[in-house]
Amino acid sequence: MSLFTRRGLLKTAATFGAAGVGYGAIGRFGGWAAASPDPVVLRTAKIQATLMDGSQTNNVLTYGSAGMPPVLRMRKGEPFAARLVNAIDDPTTIHWHGIRLPNKMDGVPFLVQPYVYTGDHFDYAFTPPDAGTFWYHPHCNTLEQMGHGLTGVIVVENPGDQQFDAEVVLNLRDWRLGDDAQFIEQFRPRDAARTGTYGTVRTANWLDQPRYDAPSGGLVRLRVAISDVTRIYAFRVEGGEAEVIALDGNPVPRRFSPDALLLGPGQRMELAVRMPDDEGATVSLRDVRGTKPKVIATLRSVGASLKRDARDVAPLEPNPVPEVDLSTAQHISLALSATAENVPSNGICGSLGYSFWAINKVPWPGDTPDPTAPLAELKLGKSYVIDMENLTPQSHPIHLHGMSFKVLSSSTRQVEPLISDTYLIQANEKVSLGFVADNPGDWLLHCHIIEHQKSGMTSYVRVV
Ligand code: C2O
Ligand code: CU
Repeated sequence: MSLFTRRGLLKTAATFGAAGVGYGAIGRFGGWAAASPDPVVLRTAKIQATLMDGSQTNNVLTYGSAGMPPVLRMRKGEPFAARLVNAIDDPTTIHWHGIRLPNKMDGVPFLVQPYVYTGDHFDYAFTPPDAGTFWYHPHCNTLEQMGHGLTGVIVVENPGDQQFDAEVVLNLRDWRLGDDAQFIEQFRPRDAARTGTYGTVRTANWLDQPRYDAPSGGLVRLRVAISDVTRIYAFRVEGGEAEVIALDGNPVPRRFSPDALLLGPGQRMELAVRMPDDEGATVSLRDVRGTKPKVIATLRSVGASLKRDARDVAPLEPNPVPEVDLSTAQHISLALSATAENVPSNGICGSLGYSFWAINKVPWPGDTPDPTAPLAELKLGKSYVIDMENLTPQSHPIHLHGMSFKVLSSSTRQVEPLISDTYLIQANEKVSLGFVADNPGDWLLHCHIIEHQKSGMTSYVRVV
């Protein structure tokens, strides 16, 4: 066996990288791919799963061989590597939602990487700069692939964070199943042109109202990711004290208890929950939106009370997101609208065959071999403010890849200066989102209601 094994070389590279040499040359988000640890293998698979009334559903998609895609654990500032192995009958990619990484690792077909065809693989490697709750999903034929199961949660740990007594991670999503527990059509055009098509079966971690045990009187870190393709939630917690400590992967400026907190597809919430002292008592996370409020999951107190104090939850360390300079920032206007204009569907990752939506009057489904022009060309290192206006009667969770923004102001409400990657804009709202264009490449910006995304509400910015 050769002395220069791959591992040996990797070790050398790691030492080299740790000494700080090369970091500057590669750049802030250049990562240090050579120092990557052994990759986590994410193999797409078609499986059967029990999602409804004990019946088996066929044609469920996952990463791995059974059940929900794994919760991936990474550490802030430490290299991570994953090999996507595509074993399903459809090209795919992985996008690491909310993680600020090099453009080549962003998983958008055509814009940044080729399709990963059946039988092929693709190696992803990056170093997450931010701690928090993120998630991963394909960016190809997304309505079908995500709708059938390919959505997983990512936890980026900060070794400096305080220890909680327990941690629970929830992956929230629906499934469009018929009475026989088999998939039905993923969307209806008339719904795609409105709020998006809802699933028929609602789950948390692929379960109906799961219950998790946690120490009585203890402090629980509850991480919630909305990985559904359509549903907007209004969160409330009952039965215990709970405070939102982070949203979309970043600590909130001021903690608050969620009172019908609206979050849309792609968004995440972290709660610090203080469990009741009495053994057997439960705390429930509810969705109170619409006419059918629903318990999503419950936590049950077990054991003798730890008698913890909710005020003992230390503030989370802010992520190293650069501060937008409002004195020099250039403004970019962005209008979300409905459209009647038709674009042909093209590419395997292409459109749904309809265009209902547009950004600055251009309907583009994204993930196609013929991208439209970028929304704007941004200068590396400069500050920008996106002034976004929603001219439609629906809400849209608008997601920016590659960079985090700060919510500056809204025409309809008082906003907190949250750092985020996804903003749920309401009907007739105008919002200003500021950021530093510090990450070179082409970065998508789209609605995360996937039918909206794939029927026109997609664009991108180019940072050079
Ligand atoms: Cu969560 Cu363009 O993605
Ligand atoms: Cu939308």
